[in-house]
Amino acid sequence: MSDIKTIGVLTSGGDAPGMNAAIRAVVRTAVAGGISVKGIMEGYKGLLENNFIDMDSEIVSDITRRGGTILYTARCRDFMTEEGPVKAAQILKENGIDGLIVIGGDGSFRGAQALAGQGVNVIGIPGTIDLDIGCTDYTIGFDTAVNTAVAAIDNIKDTSMSHERCSIIEVMGRNAGYIALWCEIANGADGILIPEKEQFDEQDLIENILSNRNKGKTHHIIINAEGVGNSLRLAKRIEAATGIDTRATILGHIQRGGAPSAKDRVYASTMGAYAVDLLAGGARDRIIAYKDGKFTDFAIDEALAMKKTIDAYQFLISRLIAQY
Ligand code: F6P
Repeated sequence: MSDIKTIGVLTSGGDAPGMNAAIRAVVRTAVAGGISVKGIMEGYKGLLENNFIDMDSEIVSDITRRGGTILYTARCRDFMTEEGPVKAAQILKENGIDGLIVIGGDGSFRGAQALAGQGVNVIGIPGTIDLDIGCTDYTIGFDTAVNTAVAAIDNIKDTSMSHERCSIIEVMGRNAGYIALWCEIANGADGILIPEKEQFDEQDLIENILSNRNKGKTHHIIINAEGVGNSLRLAKRIEAATGIDTRATILGHIQRGGAPSAKDRVYASTMGAYAVDLLAGGARDRIIAYKDGKFTDFAIDEALAMKKTIDAYQFLISRLIAQY
């Protein structure tokens, strides 16, 4: 066991539905174990500005069902300088923080790694809609974001069918194509463009649209990942190549908001509690993961060295079932 008395918690990078559930679980688990919690507002930015609040069980009441993050979040360039982590470690020490829980994505974990280099004990909880963290099969917010995108694409499909059009829908994911791949399968699309599979290019897409149309399909849905982008121009090219009326929709931040799904609430809560258990048990510098069907954790350096790849079988079947 360790002698952890006070822990800090912050959310960093893009917000993700379920972050509030993780915060609540951190606070409630810590309080139950006699550990004090300080919330750090606006991620690493608030840390550098010494923007701390005391947290208790009441402050996290009724937040599990809410999207966003009650601690606010930010992308902080100042923290990623050489001096940033040094100053942050000093501020954490002055606030009596024995362990810091960082809820965020890959960039936030690199910040946590830099803090670990300054002697701060950090635990990372994967929170990003992009599902682009190598060590884990689940990240907080992905499930909700995919369901939001799928529902929006269903709506677009109604109008696309009525007008016998082709619709290009651009989904988020930064450099990752997981949201796009899931939407392609869930929405019954004619194809996707994702950054990880550049070899499946526009010409393949055009050929599949034409082949599906020749077999009698009267509308077409194409999912374009943000990492590929340029959906408006893509729509013009597809229209020119196929002769089919084509429209583009960029779903944007609608995918990041909204009430978290039950899965995001439960998994995020589990990870929040797990993070406090790790600290209380004396662990240092770990990233929590859900891997091969169970919750686990990795050393931060090992976790950040792991590379995420698109599941080959899932990608293969997505190609097959996109054919009419
Ligand atoms: O990482 C989550 C994410 O929504 C990405 O999918 C997207 O590329 C990025 O954040 C957008 O960031 P911002 O909200 O800062 O524009």
